[in-house]
Amino acid sequence: MNVNRKVQTLDEFTIQQLRDFPNATGELSHLLRNIGLAAKRVNVEVLKAGLVDILGDAGTINVQGEEVKKLDVYANDQFTGVLRHGIACAGIASEELDDFVAFDDAKSVKSKYVCMFDPLDGSSNIDVNVSIGTIFSVYRRVTEIGTVVTKEDFLQPGNQQVAAGYVVYGSSTMLVYATRRGVNGFTLDPSIGEWTLSHPEIKCPEKGKIYSVNHGNFFQYNENVRKYINICQNKTKGDGGPYTQRYIGSMVSDVHRNLIKGGIFMYPGTTDKPKGKLRLLYECNPFAFIMEVAGGKATNGRERILDVQPTELHQRTPLFIGSKLMMEELETYLAG
Ligand code: AHG
Ligand code: MN
Ligand code: MN
Repeated sequence: MNVNRKVQTLDEFTIQQLRDFPNATGELSHLLRNIGLAAKRVNVEVLKAGLVDILGDAGTINVQGEEVKKLDVYANDQFTGVLRHGIACAGIASEELDDFVAFDDAKSVKSKYVCMFDPLDGSSNIDVNVSIGTIFSVYRRVTEIGTVVTKEDFLQPGNQQVAAGYVVYGSSTMLVYATRRGVNGFTLDPSIGEWTLSHPEIKCPEKGKIYSVNHGNFFQYNENVRKYINICQNKTKGDGGPYTQRYIGSMVSDVHRNLIKGGIFMYPGTTDKPKGKLRLLYECNPFAFIMEVAGGKATNGRERILDVQPTELHQRTPLFIGSKLMMEELETYLAG
């Protein structure tokens, strides 16, 4: 049997990247490996999600006598567990948990990273077999190594991220992550259970033809946003158009598509929710980091997302993110 050695696994890739940094400890590779491991476990359950009604509903007891958890709780437990037991992470914060969790055992307090995540994004789409995802963000702690992490370690602006990434549980399962050096995508080869490099050096096209926004909220957006949406609807061939509207309602899938094909994704504030819906720390910052490394841009309408100083773990922010030139055009409208 032939072994295709063009295939590079996630582990091989992260270790090879490390070789350029002689002082690197390998902790980041370890952390990414753990995230990849948790994602594989979540993937197994996502693939069975449609069977939940015949195998037992969330909240009931399964055949092994275990309680069947909702998939987002299951995903949260997997990511938390794998990071707690690994050797690279000193604490986590998650969409599913009110407060951050400090790993205070002797091994974890010596770890240098903290991780924030949305364990299952787009969870309202699970029941209808639409792609969902996981989003994560990694920071170097600011408190001293050897101590228990504090809130300060989590409330860092996005420009301090060391790495960020996401997993799409879609027609293929993909893990995409960015460091300052680049964005790379790995597709899960289910036959061998390995993440394999399938999308090296992802760059977001400078412009595209896709705009993604929830049109149902149109009359709740401010005038500048409405004007820009009208511009998108009226693009002609001579003007880089016509544009097409695509909105799945799973941010991971929507932004992933636009990152690869070129496009713009917006979740503006509405009259009901002036700060929009999406969370700064584990939804917007990781995507803003990935998009910028890939050549694109991300703003809250007034300021670069990555420069926002967070004050709360679960704070929300409006988000506009995508291809560089499309974002620059949008910004002229947002400026009024
Ligand atoms: P979550 O499932 O983690 O709560 O996030 C869902 C988010 C995001 O994925 C998506 O872009 C957005 O909700 C869609 O919201 P609307 O239905 O309001 O457009
Ligand atoms: Mn989410
Ligand atoms: Mn979620």
